[in-house]
Amino acid sequence: MRIEEFDVVVVGAGLSGLRAALELSKKWNTAVISKVYPVRSHSGAAQGGINAALGNLEESKNDTPEGHAFDTVKGSDYLADQDVVMFMCKEAPKIVVEFESMGAPFSRLDSGLIAQRPFGGAGFPRTCYAGDRTGHALLHTLNEQSVRHGVEFFNEYFLIDLIVVNEKIVGVITLDVAKGEIVIFRASYVILATGGFGRIFKHSTNALINTGDGVGAAFRAGVPMQDVEFVQFHPTTLFGTNILITEGARGEGGYLFNTEGERFMAKTAPKAMELAPRDIVARANDIEVLEGRGFEDAYVHLDLTHLGADRIKERLPGIRDISIFFAGVDPIEEPIPVQPGQHYSMGGIGTKFKGVYGETDLYGLYTIGECSCLSVHGANRLGGNSLLETSVFGRYIGRKLLEIGLTKKISLSDVKNAEEIALENVEKLLKSWDNNTGKKPVEIKNAMGETMNKNVGVFRTHDDLSKAYDTLVNLQKNFLNVKISTEDRKFNYGLLRNLELRSMLDIAEATAYAALWRKESRGGHYRWDYDSRDDNNFLSHSMIYRVKDGLNLKTKPVVLGIFEVKERKY
Ligand code: FUM
Repeated sequence: MRIEEFDVVVVGAGLSGLRAALELSKKWNTAVISKVYPVRSHSGAAQGGINAALGNLEESKNDTPEGHAFDTVKGSDYLADQDVVMFMCKEAPKIVVEFESMGAPFSRLDSGLIAQRPFGGAGFPRTCYAGDRTGHALLHTLNEQSVRHGVEFFNEYFLIDLIVVNEKIVGVITLDVAKGEIVIFRASYVILATGGFGRIFKHSTNALINTGDGVGAAFRAGVPMQDVEFVQFHPTTLFGTNILITEGARGEGGYLFNTEGERFMAKTAPKAMELAPRDIVARANDIEVLEGRGFEDAYVHLDLTHLGADRIKERLPGIRDISIFFAGVDPIEEPIPVQPGQHYSMGGIGTKFKGVYGETDLYGLYTIGECSCLSVHGANRLGGNSLLETSVFGRYIGRKLLEIGLTKKISLSDVKNAEEIALENVEKLLKSWDNNTGKKPVEIKNAMGETMNKNVGVFRTHDDLSKAYDTLVNLQKNFLNVKISTEDRKFNYGLLRNLELRSMLDIAEATAYAALWRKESRGGHYRWDYDSRDDNNFLSHSMIYRVKDGLNLKTKPVVLGIFEVKERKY
């Protein structure tokens, strides 16, 4: 066992983690722990862009941060906290200009200004982009800056648990994947920026690394999960593999068609059409299939052929490659087969009501990016607001903590004591996996993914959700007796997959539990048995806690503001 000491430890090296570390390392000893090399983080998979009311196009010259905030709150089905949304949208133009000054290779207009494209649910074209590889461009830009400014990286270190003394965080316990050694990081502050957890579903646009390690660790330390029933299903993922086909394809003018040659979005969103928010388009796609107008009873067509070869090659080269390689379809010639697929988690690690954005109930623990629930997306996130959230709140939390300063005082003997207990618990856990006789992790993981897809999908009912919940409770029991060998810990991928599964099961269980509780339809959570929004009873955030005999749900108020809660029409 090894001990490292820092002022602050950031877990996760995607955009939010890197942006926070860049700020913090100006003054403090800052470590970034990541289970993969930073440029392999899932932020790099974001395609379409980052929203900011720059007004660079003639048709967007009247755009404003307030307009962006309005679209975000309406898109969220009014569950987003309006203070945090307003903050993010006001910061957006500054953060994009900052990226530009760091050298991010944004696509340009003929005037030389940053190009912007229309995205779903947006009143103006405000999504800035780098072709269809925006996340990749921004991640590399921030990684270069982090290296340049001397951020200290611990790559291929896996977060196992948080270390806590008297409800204050004092560090984290990790596994150095290459050496197979347990390493404890002592720190006054820990920032969890571990990204999404889409892999609790079998079919997802998420990378296989998106397993909710930070959410699970926080939950085990008593921090609730917030709004996890709100799962985003991206309307256009490649049929079969569920690889993301960016909303930018529709932003560039792509149409959705059913087998009758009908642009079916006209029925659901006559004004916005294909650029309605994702929850609405995903449901419309599935309805076409359910009502018998889907191709092979499974998918709809995304047609780009009318855009022409030049535009596709310039603006959507990655989408063309993906379609050719994985579906044998060249979008210059033929439509792309698409279906909804899990894409994003609106919920995550619960945060304080009106605290510092990203602050949790555990003193010294903060959270940003997709693993967190800052409640900036409410029940449905708008495309292009995710890259924005990561970078705005990465920078914000860095600056905020530097402003608060290093105030926490805990005696060294208490810290050492907590570290010993954490180490003992981890060793006991790993030993039990050697001695158990039950199922293999992959069997449990597959069963979890299947029930999540089948029963906690785009459309939900009480019966399906109950089935999922019961299955997940049983899988938790199976997990208590899961069998793997942990004796050789160097690059032990079985061990890593099992550590991941430990968190994923908790998140999946909490998701089904919260979805059962929410007897209404709002944003990404649609129930056939409660098919309208119920503001009287459910205009609130769900907060899920582990209690002795299962889970418990409390609610947290939504921060309302200048935007009146209304019916959502597009
Ligand atoms: O469709 C996309 O390019 C995804 C963007 C996002 O999730 O913000």
